[in-house]
Amino acid sequence: MATDVHGPVTTTRKEKPAPPPAANASAVRVQGLSRRFDGRAVIDGLELDVRPGEFVALLGRSGCGKSTLLRILAGLDREIEGTVLVPRRKAVAFQSPRLMPWKKVWRNVLLGLPGKPGRPVADKALDEVGLGHRSDAWPKTLSGGEAQRASLARALVREPDLLLLDEPFGALDALTRIKAQRLVGELWQRRGCAVLLVTHDVEEAVLLADRVLVMDDGVIAHEAHLDLPRPRDIADPEFARVRGELLERLGVETGAQDTGA
Ligand SMILES: Nc1ncnc2c1ncn2[C@@H]1O[C@H](COP(=O)(O)OP(=O)(O)OP(=O)(O)O)[C@@H](O)[C@H]1O
Ligand SMILES: [Mg+2]
Repeated sequence: MATDVHGPVTTTRKEKPAPPPAANASAVRVQGLSRRFDGRAVIDGLELDVRPGEFVALLGRSGCGKSTLLRILAGLDREIEGTVLVPRRKAVAFQSPRLMPWKKVWRNVLLGLPGKPGRPVADKALDEVGLGHRSDAWPKTLSGGEAQRASLARALVREPDLLLLDEPFGALDALTRIKAQRLVGELWQRRGCAVLLVTHDVEEAVLLADRVLVMDDGVIAHEAHLDLPRPRDIADPEFARVRGELLERLGVETGAQDTGA
């Protein structure tokens, strides 16, 4: 991994660049990260390490800075202080699939890829997400769940060592959401990349992640390690215990009607 890791994304304060981490030490290493908007620190001295191949879920109240952190890790925001080390090969999928309406699905999947790869590359990724039969379709003819899978295929063709997902299932109906969660779990196990999943759904976090983080006050305020066997069973008492602990951390009353954050 060491050769795949680039140095600090940038710093507004001039600092000595940190040495690259030892091979396979981390997929993500964030040290003393701060991001201010109009003088207000949304991220304030945040530390984060993600192991190669680790699935991490990130929870936190609306507006606490989750998407800001994700955008920084994706290299989309460089107005930061601190050190951010991420793999060179990373991909991001957002809540809205962001497909270009004037390009067919397979062309959307290849968009921005270097080296002009051919259609078979797109079709292979579309097959992997169960969308091979819609390769030639226009984006506007896709259902919400299909569009989200196309967005995942677009992330997968980048063969990422780090997959960044910002509420990718947020706009899906309950059944499609469950299928999409399963798909992401399978892709992660098959690909072995590190995943950082931003979600508001505590149950989704506990279903999928090795570790669940709660962001608050600009830092990672809490983390829960999950040793539950996979596939996970929401009826498992340990599942319920971790979910309850996380809901409490999020300031949600726990009781008979846990519905997520
Ligand atoms: N470009 C920007 N300019 C000014 N303020 C911003 C900008 N981007 C984000 N913010 C502010 O930073 C804070 C964190 O935003 P962010 O989108 O990271 O929150 P979030 O945790 O992802 O919230 P949600 O769960 O609602 O998606 C918010 O108060 C937001 O208004
Ligand atoms: Mg957000």
